[in-house]
Amino acid sequence: MCGIVGYVGPRKAAPVLLEGLAKLEYRGYDSAGISVRDGRNDPVTVKVKGRLSGLVQKTNGGEDVPGCCGIGHTRWATHGEPSETNAHPHVSPDNMVVGVHNGIVENYQELRGKLERKGYTFYSQTDTEILIDLVDYYYRKYKVGPIDALAKTMVRVRGSYALAVMFKDYPDVVFAMRKDSPMIVGRGKNESFLASDVPAILKYTRDVYYVDNLEMVRLSGSGITFFNLDGDVVDKELSHIDWDAEAAEKGGFEHFMMKEIYEEPKALQDTLNSVLGENGIDFGKIGLDDETIRGISDITVTACGSAYHTGVVAQYVTESLTRIPVRVELASEFRYRDPILRPGTLVIIISQSGETADSLAALREAKARGAKTLAIVNVLGSSIAREADYVYYTLAGPEIAVATTKAYSAQLMALYTLAVKFAFVRGTISEERYAQLLEELAKLPEKTGRILEKKEKIQRLASEKCAEKDIFYIGRGIDYAVSLEGSLKFKEISYIHSEAYAAGELKHGTISLIEEGTPVIGVITQEKTAEKTVSNMVECQSRGAYVIAVTREGLESLVPTADYVLTLPAADELFMASVTVVPLQLIAYYVSVSKGLDVDKPRNLAKSVTVE
Ligand code: AGP
Repeated sequence: MCGIVGYVGPRKAAPVLLEGLAKLEYRGYDSAGISVRDGRNDPVTVKVKGRLSGLVQKTNGGEDVPGCCGIGHTRWATHGEPSETNAHPHVSPDNMVVGVHNGIVENYQELRGKLERKGYTFYSQTDTEILIDLVDYYYRKYKVGPIDALAKTMVRVRGSYALAVMFKDYPDVVFAMRKDSPMIVGRGKNESFLASDVPAILKYTRDVYYVDNLEMVRLSGSGITFFNLDGDVVDKELSHIDWDAEAAEKGGFEHFMMKEIYEEPKALQDTLNSVLGENGIDFGKIGLDDETIRGISDITVTACGSAYHTGVVAQYVTESLTRIPVRVELASEFRYRDPILRPGTLVIIISQSGETADSLAALREAKARGAKTLAIVNVLGSSIAREADYVYYTLAGPEIAVATTKAYSAQLMALYTLAVKFAFVRGTISEERYAQLLEELAKLPEKTGRILEKKEKIQRLASEKCAEKDIFYIGRGIDYAVSLEGSLKFKEISYIHSEAYAAGELKHGTISLIEEGTPVIGVITQEKTAEKTVSNMVECQSRGAYVIAVTREGLESLVPTADYVLTLPAADELFMASVTVVPLQLIAYYVSVSKGLDVDKPRNLAKSVTVE
């Protein structure tokens, strides 16, 4: 996820662009840049690696960059390491087209080949440079103007984009096109604004247009014109924003955590799409070829916190599909316990930030012992990404809330694709089971999204029944694994004691803590163990617990005695953790909100624990 801005009007553009980018840094912050035109002069482009503050310093707050027409970008790298070269804006030959982009070009390799055959060369590793050169190609070839060039580009590109460009032949005009990535356009007196999100322009105008998919826009000081894919002018309704700036940065959500829960379906979709090729899952970009996959003798997964919990889910899923022995270790333990690794061991390090000290140390320990290492990380160019032998990037976008949600979900998706691909390559699943599992993965985003329709119901349950002295989560197998995450979410943002237990284990001690009204959440999505877990819930209920069954369609008849039943959409049982985790995240969120706590920045915690 990145942030883009554009301006054209009577003001000096650079300061306006920088102010707008500052309001969008939550969307990405590994590099930034602006490009400003002063009349017919070529654009002046200034870029920095690192935070926006470096760009502000480099341009003296924008005062050193002349001109009243410009675009800007703050980056969350998806293709190409964070660097000044890869920072946006990107330019085509002779500065014919300069642009900034938020989104992902899925077929960028194919387009790169096409452009190379037309004589284009590339200076960066980004998909955006290819997108800009494609606009340039159509503009030069058909000579029918910018809107036509953009329309032809939209037809050819697969992926998502909010693209803002300036053409050398059109001074004092910004053009844009949009598909799936957000874009708004603001109207002021003799001036026009463009941005990824409302906060960037609230200082100047509250009158905005929301750009729809496959629409193009022409912005000038005198007005704004919208076009459809056929190049016809379309009329759009002007909206008036009455949010305050702070609320607007969260896209209207009260907290980043809820915003990021809503982004989980897209995080799942983008992560899955990033490894889908012509014939299913393709790890070519990661470098995991079939021979390497066949050579794996065993897998050790190591991580911390929620990332560790995805490893516990992966153990069940991966062993079930591939029959490869999988061990899951806390990174803080792994690094000190003289682990036994074999030449065929694959060590998988999972980390949203890619900077967690214990996980980085575990990676180094694994490499020192000769194991192959695969990192699953959400931040491009992070330390763990740079040091691992293979890197699998989750495409969850920047996660601002300290309590992870969408990154956890994206990590699960990455781990599922590894298990499915490994099983298929090693022949432990048939062609039809492979196809069926791929179909199931493709349905997960929609099923996850459907749960959000029940959030008011979950809010009532959370605030009425869960804000007690203790709360327990129980489950078996994958249901136990996801209970670990539900319990951690609850603890870290509501400050209430919680424990997750293998359902069969509760009676060996901890059940003594169950009192009248103690909430016990029983996760029951695995048919094979459902009745056992129901029995464990009844044991708790007979001791006064308020038992909440979180189950799926097809199993709800097994839980007649529960005090509360939450039924979820059914997915393949191997992937049910992705569906189950959402209500557990929401329960934690609503209890925290009901207690008036700082949901996004809980006490004592940090988003990335870079110390031991
Ligand atoms: C998750 O809600 C926590 N904030 C924490 O457990 C986190 O998952 C853990 O610190 C690992 O962080 P990483 O994924 O960035 O390595």
